[in-house]
Amino acid sequence: MSQTAKTYPPSAEMAASAHVDAAKYDAMYAASIADPDAFWKEQGARVDWMTPFTQVKDVDYTLGSVKINWYADGTLNASANCIDRHLEKRGDQTAIIFEPDNPEEDAQHITYKELHAKTCKMANILKDLGVTRGDRVVIYLPMIPEAAYAMLACARIGAIHSIVFAGFSPDALAARVNGSEAKVVITADHAPRGGRSTPLKTNADQALLHCDDSVKCLVVKRTGGQTTWVDGRDFDYNALVEGASADCAPEAMGAEDPLFILYTSGSTGQPKGVVHTTGGYMVYASMTHEITFDYKDGDVFWCTADVGWVTGHSYIVYGPLANGATTIMFEGVPTFPDASRFWQVCEKHKVNQFYTAPTAIRALMGKGDDFVKKADLSSLRVLGTVGEPINPEAWNWYNDVVGGGRCPIVDTWWQTETGGHLMTPLPGAHAMKPGSAMKPFFGIQPVVLEPTSAEQLEGNPVEGVLCIADSWPGQMRTIWGDHERFEKTYFSDYPGYYFTGDGCKRDEDGDYWITGRVDDVINVSGHRMGTAEVESALVAHAKVAEAAVVGYPHEIKGQGIYCYVTLMGGEEPTDELRLELRNWVRTEIGPIASPDLIQWAPGLPKTRSGKIMRRILRKIAENDHSTLGDTSTLADPSVVDDLIENRMNR
Ligand code: WTA
Repeated sequence: MSQTAKTYPPSAEMAASAHVDAAKYDAMYAASIADPDAFWKEQGARVDWMTPFTQVKDVDYTLGSVKINWYADGTLNASANCIDRHLEKRGDQTAIIFEPDNPEEDAQHITYKELHAKTCKMANILKDLGVTRGDRVVIYLPMIPEAAYAMLACARIGAIHSIVFAGFSPDALAARVNGSEAKVVITADHAPRGGRSTPLKTNADQALLHCDDSVKCLVVKRTGGQTTWVDGRDFDYNALVEGASADCAPEAMGAEDPLFILYTSGSTGQPKGVVHTTGGYMVYASMTHEITFDYKDGDVFWCTADVGWVTGHSYIVYGPLANGATTIMFEGVPTFPDASRFWQVCEKHKVNQFYTAPTAIRALMGKGDDFVKKADLSSLRVLGTVGEPINPEAWNWYNDVVGGGRCPIVDTWWQTETGGHLMTPLPGAHAMKPGSAMKPFFGIQPVVLEPTSAEQLEGNPVEGVLCIADSWPGQMRTIWGDHERFEKTYFSDYPGYYFTGDGCKRDEDGDYWITGRVDDVINVSGHRMGTAEVESALVAHAKVAEAAVVGYPHEIKGQGIYCYVTLMGGEEPTDELRLELRNWVRTEIGPIASPDLIQWAPGLPKTRSGKIMRRILRKIAENDHSTLGDTSTLADPSVVDDLIENRMNR
């Protein structure tokens, strides 16, 4: 990514009105590093505690004894922090605006009082289904208000939710229900999206065939469409909610009690159950939401993510609601009914902060400016991006056409593992550079290491792997059921640091630029995908002998999925088979894992010890085969010529 010389300092008005200006950032950042305990003790007061904490940070990154604790002796309830504490002052204020897929359908405005009643009812229904403190509940819902009620209801009774994105397949759902040993799956009949409908309940039915018979299924009516029903296992939310009590006292949870598990792709075939706990996560989600977006009382905040991803957890539900905001839940997609949808929703609900992914910006940029210009976007104050590096062209379009040159763009770099933003420019403090995540958030100590020697690279400019030297309250605590894997994944390659899996540059001015993953994870439309997961789906097909999957540059998606497939002896490499394999991966994992390109590979480049040389496969997929590097260590160098000759990406 090119580093443009042009910078975009905050306007005088923004610098003067924002929570944090340049001087305050410097002072607060210095304080957060000099005395983390004092800094985070003060920030701990952002949430309401049932039992005040006396301890702040208790962290050890030593391999073999990694532990991360924040505010460990305090107790609190996340749902009470998102709802109850606002009732007195803003009970009649809208907490959630639900904007349905179909623009003809009315939006719903749910007040904090209504949110309280709905959450309590859902909590009581879950209790009646036998869910108690510490139990796991899988949520497999469209972007409807019931998804927020379900999350907050779990939090209220101390159950741990694990949301599975509604675009995942029955197999992926079953793996997550089994992995977390969930007692209940909450789903809906159908999920409308982009004018089409996904039969969620049918997917859940298929998944539940592979789960324990005791798992119950709570079904929300979204469309009223046909579903099958298993008596004794399936429960009708809409019927039960009628008789459910609107009172449910929030449980006092330990700060380190898990709030949720969220499965995410890693560099091996098995997704990891990332565990976030209650106290530190809430403090961090609330603080980053307020400071990064310069959120102020009365603002309407819109994050376009799905609650199936961490962005939806922290910046649709927990962060905004902890701050008493009005948050939008949008069920649809950016291009339905046409490419003006986002901007019409901004106009309709007078959105102040708008937060989306570069892939959406690129897709909309391609449709032309008219779709944006016909909407009144004067309410917008801050724009944000997340999920992948943003290219300067998309940044400039977002800035000029959407923001009218008035709105700072916060390019927020973070991960499922980090709970909230770790690096971002702040609207009133930093002179933004298109494509740069700029500066660490308070308490975050990024270090750039030389990849092989693990030596810390001092001075500027430098480039290497990105690690974080110390903990922050929103950090993940473990991998569900596998603390050893947690330690190995994040703390073993670069001892003493949290390893992010990303590469980065620090430029002459000390600003950070994320260069992308350095492991076998690719970023497709802002979604993390483990290449190993796609490979194991491919080799599970009877006609496939071997497969290797890499990313390649894709104009809209950022990265596309490029598969090299070796067929079983005697199988014909046809276009029909390509289609069959594509559909196979969609059914095994979900549409987000759809291969973009499949190349038939008579052989894969391997070292003499049998290890696939992915570096070479990546170069070929990037159509950059002039610099393949040393291929002399390959068992059979001639396979490379065949792969170059027949490459799909020309
Ligand atoms: C990438 C999403 C560049 C990065 C919140 C990270 C980014 C992975 C940015 C995490 C950004 C996220 N600039 N790259 N602003 N934000 N990434 O877990 O590679 O779905 O490691 O969390 O996305 O993806 P995840």
